[in-house]
Amino acid sequence: MMQKDGSSTAAAATPVAHARGPRIELPCLKWIRAALIGLSFVLINACTGSGAASTVESQDPIDGNQAQDMQEIAPGDEILVVGATGSVGRLVVADALDAGYRVRALVRDRARAERLLPSQATLVVGDLTDPASLPALVGGIDGIVFTHGASGETAAREVNYGGVRNILFALDERPVRVAMMSAVGVTRPIDPDRRSSEPRGWKRRGERLLRASGMPYTIVRPGWFDYNAEDQQRMVFRQGDTEQTGTPQDGVIARRQIANVLVASLSSATANRKTLELVAERGSEQSDLDPLFAALEADADGALDGPRDQPNLPLSEEPEVFREDLRQIKR
Ligand SMILES: NC(=O)c1ccc[n+]([C@@H]2O[C@H](COP(=O)([O-])OP(=O)(O)OC[C@H]3O[C@@H](n4cnc5c(N)ncnc54)[C@H](OP(=O)(O)O)[C@@H]3O)[C@@H](O)[C@H]2O)c1
Repeated sequence: MMQKDGSSTAAAATPVAHARGPRIELPCLKWIRAALIGLSFVLINACTGSGAASTVESQDPIDGNQAQDMQEIAPGDEILVVGATGSVGRLVVADALDAGYRVRALVRDRARAERLLPSQATLVVGDLTDPASLPALVGGIDGIVFTHGASGETAAREVNYGGVRNILFALDERPVRVAMMSAVGVTRPIDPDRRSSEPRGWKRRGERLLRASGMPYTIVRPGWFDYNAEDQQRMVFRQGDTEQTGTPQDGVIARRQIANVLVASLSSATANRKTLELVAERGSEQSDLDPLFAALEADADGALDGPRDQPNLPLSEEPEVFREDLRQIKR
């Protein structure tokens, strides 16, 4: 498959910075590797008596739709940034590198990405609408930050939702820690005649698929980007998606702070299975986000939506293509 930059998919998957390239896992080896890693993890803990921070590689594969016991990751682990050249994605790449993560950046145009992103990031070239290109790009990663986005009805389905779907399926049930950028107002009611075309519906379906996947995750719904005044730096985590005017009155937040929250969630035990709206209000910025994550209600097991979200998109009326994705991801 030819990529936007003219290279082939195989060549495109070759990192340009870090020596360590994506691992390709054969299905039978996956289980053997998981068993060996699990055994060595137990032995190391038994010998050292330590409660070392777990990484995704020490966990069992997911079992249907069951929530995982893990599973924050830690600096040194490798994350994939989806939408890495975007206005928020670029800040996530920089923030994650600063925090000590190894960063793999999924990009469409290598030359452009080389200009935009720090040289410490490993570039992998792929397109979210080309599922065959993705398994080689996600091999060996420990976490994912989704910050991609495209406008228009077709792109909402194929990129905004399809990107989440294709990456989750490319992982082939290997659990990784996920941070997803969504949007304030994503649960605003949709005219029933526009259920399959309204972009908001596809963004919400991306959230729903992630919740159903069994991956450990945090879903961040930011307010309007960079509409905050200088004195609005105090981050507020809301739930219930109650502000739905479709204007900056629903909440404002700096892109920089969105990136901070996404990256911080990866290593926060209290952020797992949490959905939040992120806005900034008058006051100074907090340095420790754990208390903010801890105060949130977790998403209920098996729930498609966040706590207190309006139940206004019944599964029975969802497009069949989405219901089939749900069935597959829960298998
Ligand atoms: N603006 C707001 O106030 C606001 C508030 C809340 C939420 N949001 C949400 O934020 C999202 C936009 O974020 P942003 O402004 O950071 O977006 P952006 O700057 O337009 O970046 C989008 C990223 O997605 C990538 N992308 C698009 N299509 C792709 C594909 N087929 N394969 C791989 N990558 C692809 C782009 O890659 P290229 O660089 O190659 O194009 C780029 O890296 C939207 O979904 C919007 O709903 C916006």
